[in-house]
Amino acid sequence: MKALFSVLLFWFLHVFPILSLLTPVTQNAEAETHMEKQWQGAGTTLSLEEVIIGRCYNYIRVVNPSVGEKNCSQIWEAFKDAFIFKDPCKVLPKDYEPFIRLTVHDVPLNKSLFWENSQLLVRRYADNTKRMMPLDGTLMGWLAEGLAWCGHPGGTGMNYKSCPTTDECEHNPAESFWRIASEAYAKLAAGVIHVMLNGSVSDGAYPVNGFFAKFELTNLIKDNILNIQIWVMDEIEGPDNESCGSKTIKLLETTLQEDGFQYTCTDNYKPVRLLQCVDFPTHHDCLCAHPLLQLSFLPSQAHLPVLFILSTSPRQPVAQSLQSQLHLCSILHSFPANFVVKFRKVSVGSDHSATAGADISFKAH
Ligand SMILES: *[C@@H]1O[C@H](CO)[C@@H](O)[C@H](O)[C@H]1NC(C)=O
Ligand SMILES: *[C@@H]1O[C@H](CO)[C@@H](O)[C@H](O)[C@H]1NC(C)=O
Ligand SMILES: *[C@@H]1O[C@H](CO)[C@@H](O)[C@H](O)[C@H]1NC(C)=O
Ligand SMILES: *[C@@H]1O[C@H](CO)[C@@H](O)[C@H](O)[C@H]1NC(C)=O
Repeated sequence: MKALFSVLLFWFLHVFPILSLLTPVTQNAEAETHMEKQWQGAGTTLSLEEVIIGRCYNYIRVVNPSVGEKNCSQIWEAFKDAFIFKDPCKVLPKDYEPFIRLTVHDVPLNKSLFWENSQLLVRRYADNTKRMMPLDGTLMGWLAEGLAWCGHPGGTGMNYKSCPTTDECEHNPAESFWRIASEAYAKLAAGVIHVMLNGSVSDGAYPVNGFFAKFELTNLIKDNILNIQIWVMDEIEGPDNESCGSKTIKLLETTLQEDGFQYTCTDNYKPVRLLQCVDFPTHHDCLCAHPLLQLSFLPSQAHLPVLFILSTSPRQPVAQSLQSQLHLCSILHSFPANFVVKFRKVSVGSDHSATAGADISFKAH
């Protein structure tokens, strides 16, 4: 009896007050989880406002002051108004029009850089707008890059738990943002423009449903464009699944021809290749960057045939058999600039007979 009483007393004095305190909180949390559907994508980046306003001032004051004065608070308001308190599946590209109008600025001649599947390499090459200005090097892209955001009907108006992916609903805040931003960016392209594609992907270096094909290529202003340079970059140590003139790159080339654009296509464009090599300094693709080593007649190191340097001009003819790409590399670098080096490709049969091919001349360096 006494024990029962003390249990009851304990409940009244301790557990009840705690439970009654807890109940409203639990109800609120339940209400929130009921409202907040769980999406596949990450929730709104915490401190979104501070991040965007901070990025905005960093851009206009430090990264690219040439864009001139902008009102970063007003830019944040315009960004927020596109999605806050809204159903995260009902945000359209046009909802960001005020934001685009406030952030838009010129992209310098010859500095446009479009891409698919190569964002990190693009960013390194672009070097914070110093070398190139891809979309995320413009103010509008810079502000949103790498962030997640979406609305919620109640509370703070933002869903910090999860946001829909494009597979879940097409008209989500991020997808709609990047669509209108890509369209606006494409319209600013002028002069020689560039497209970096990834030759190591297996599902299409030029995806016909990608942002470049759907929102950028279709919005280029042809009269402003001199030439389109396509760069197909393979990963070092990665597969070489696509190259200029084949598969989806050929499709892109045909599309550009039909649309009347001048273009060039380069596999493993050297300045970008050199940047990739920073992470693979001892890889054989990186040891010697002489253009000769990128010529198609040179097979991989493992199957290198015997090559003879027939003559160098104005030096006396020499004959050398090359053991490896590295050997070729060191020979080439031993010549002063502007020496003409003549090669003859020689195939060696199983009986060790040698068949000479045509001479090929190059300038060393
Ligand atoms: C910037 O925009 C905010 C919000 O729209 C406004 O209150 C403020 O006066 C503007 N500042 C300037 C300097 O125009
Ligand atoms: C842009 O590229 C074209 C063609 O190479 C060149 O003639 C022009 O001087 C370049 N303009 C700038 C600003 O770099
Ligand atoms: C290129 O594609 C490969 C294969 O999908 C990927 O591993 C690599 O990170 C991509 N390269 C860049 C620069 O994004
Ligand atoms: C791309 O390369 C990888 C590795 O070599 C290979 O497994 C894959 O089948 C290739 N894909 C295509 C479409 O060629």
